[in-house]
Amino acid sequence: MERALYGPGGFYRRELPVHHFSTSAQTPAFAEAVAQLADEADERLGRPRSFAVVDVGAGNGDLLFHLSELLDDRARLIAVELRPRPRHLPERIEWRRRLPDAFEGLLIACELLDNVPCDRALVDEDGRLRYEEVNRDGATRAGGRLDEADEQWLAAWWPLRDPGERAEIGRPREARWRELTERLVRGTALAVDYGHLGSDRPEGGTMTGFKDGRSTEPVPDGSCDITAHVAVDAIPADRVEPQRDALRALGLNATRPPMSLAYRDPTAYAVALANASATARLMDPAGLGAQWWMRTDR
Ligand SMILES: C[S@@+](CC[C@H](N)C(=O)[O-])C[C@H]1O[C@@H](n2cnc3c(N)ncnc32)[C@H](O)[C@@H]1O
Repeated sequence: MERALYGPGGFYRRELPVHHFSTSAQTPAFAEAVAQLADEADERLGRPRSFAVVDVGAGNGDLLFHLSELLDDRARLIAVELRPRPRHLPERIEWRRRLPDAFEGLLIACELLDNVPCDRALVDEDGRLRYEEVNRDGATRAGGRLDEADEQWLAAWWPLRDPGERAEIGRPREARWRELTERLVRGTALAVDYGHLGSDRPEGGTMTGFKDGRSTEPVPDGSCDITAHVAVDAIPADRVEPQRDALRALGLNATRPPMSLAYRDPTAYAVALANASATARLMDPAGLGAQWWMRTDR
């Protein structure tokens, strides 16, 4: 998974996420919610002289692009991304491959954790836990026995019992969240991903491939995205909630404007309707609204 996504010629070395799937961060309405979150964090910090907004796994920089139109110059906009800097971005957006060592502000990581490579566990015919191995054609077989740390993670978060049961081992996602939040001296950290809770783990896991807007077999040959939903309750965040609830708490509203506005001011009506439908997409429980917000304040 690591090589297929990030190695030489890997999927994310060549491809732009927007060409293969839609994310919250691609939409201007999402940036409005993030700007609101940034403002709340900024106020809590006493409006320091420098306030960083760090987008980790920034993709094509869409979120920071939209934020550059919403946040004043005191906000230092930083993209952390393996891909090269896109040409169209305003100069004020910094583009780098690694996180700053320490910063105050807002750290945001949208659909990053579900792309953090992880192993898949399988219960063999004798009831033992093994890693599942895969070749470049996508054929799988039971491999070596799980190490102790991975066994403990499964026992705590995603217990498997019967032969043939499978699960993704979420330990690397927790480790990535810790690495990210360690650098945040004061402020808010937010990860946004599709995920599941202990009460509702999907049978067999969710590892899947994406290519050209469709799901495919997760074949690790670099031809497709490979993703697995995040065990969100295992991420050591202060607060975990569905995106639709988090957006509502930030004041986003998907209510259609009244028809009377269409007669009084057709342009204002069209703009309000477009905003309402963009927000409705972000809150749709059968779509982006089903994503989880994992948030820590410090
Ligand atoms: C699924 S895309 C999400 C893009 C964007 N955040 C969005 O939500 O539209 C994940 C992005 O994370 C980047 N990425 C993955 N691991 C990374 C790392 N260790 N450092 C920087 N970027 C990384 C990939 O290159 C890819 O652009």
